[in-house]
Amino acid sequence: MTYEEAAGIIRAPLRSTPRNRELVRFASLAANSHNMQPWTFTASADRIVIAPDFTRRCSVVDPDDHHLFVSLGCAAENLVLAASMLGLKANAIVESDEVVIDLEAAPASSSPLAEAIAVRQSTRTIYDGKPVSPETLRLLESACREPGVSTIMISDRAGILDVADYVVQANSAQMRDKAFIDELRRWLRFSEADAMAKMDGLFSRCSGNPALPAWIARPLLSFFLTQEAENKKYREQIASSAGVVVLASDAGDKAYWIAVGRACQRFGLQATALGLKYAFVNQSVEVPAIRSQFASLDLGGRRPDIIMRFGTGPALPNSLRRAPEQVMREMS
Ligand SMILES: Cc1cc2nc3c(=O)[nH]c(=O)nc-3n(C[C@H](O)[C@H](O)[C@H](O)COP(=O)(O)O)c2cc1C
Repeated sequence: MTYEEAAGIIRAPLRSTPRNRELVRFASLAANSHNMQPWTFTASADRIVIAPDFTRRCSVVDPDDHHLFVSLGCAAENLVLAASMLGLKANAIVESDEVVIDLEAAPASSSPLAEAIAVRQSTRTIYDGKPVSPETLRLLESACREPGVSTIMISDRAGILDVADYVVQANSAQMRDKAFIDELRRWLRFSEADAMAKMDGLFSRCSGNPALPAWIARPLLSFFLTQEAENKKYREQIASSAGVVVLASDAGDKAYWIAVGRACQRFGLQATALGLKYAFVNQSVEVPAIRSQFASLDLGGRRPDIIMRFGTGPALPNSLRRAPEQVMREMS
């Protein structure tokens, strides 16, 4: 099987059977930090429980599991939307570490967001630099509406470039941090074979970089993953965007982080439905010192949770996912 075939199989159109496997397949297409897929799904006739898989946590970049729980929220949002296409009303609540999704029969309905699930991708490349219409900004902003989550939309040039400054500062700190680089390396996949052996992680072509055999790329990494080159890339990519959106939650706990995940997944789906591309530029929320400076901008003291840029640009190869069987557990 080629890489493109593997990426296509996981994104095949939603089928009605086997129902739970299909819902899990669509849930796992969600955005998730480092493509670590930090989840398990326990399914029965009327309930699917999404639980964290802490064996996949990234303790350096995400010491409090913030990104991990945001990722669970992203998966929950996809699952709720996919359920509606299969004639199921899904009610998601957070119980302790888990998202419990109860399913009941309802008329089947689709929506532009649900239709975008298999198309959405994080597109880490240069966009065309053109602004989007006020109506588009309004649709993007309203897609993020979620109790306990605030949305800050930045579409003026000066504001976008300010965000780039913070991202570059935080990226510089990360590039100097050996533990950060070592952890990132473990999730980098350099060749198709490398990516398909694990079906997770960050494949180089999904970030606009060439694929290389891992035995060549790994020793060379320190030559091309440099602070200077990465900062230049992020500055150009952010400057080429039509805008940046920041999501900030009212409180710093798991339930709010899951809510942020639901909002951020809807943002990505709405952007996709509008024919736009988007990508996360989360460095400034990952470095605590920069995060608190960033929070003093216009967030009323709230913790910035997620930063995403958006605009018009070309598609990149899609990322892989593990098969549903690998993340599904029996209900005991
Ligand atoms: C909480 C969270 C944080 C993320 N942070 C970043 C980031 O800082 N930089 C980046 O390029 N992508 C980031 N991503 C995007 C993931 O890397 C991406 O969703 C994953 O690799 C799967 O690819 P896909 O979104 O194209 O399906 C983040 C995603 C989530 C949910």
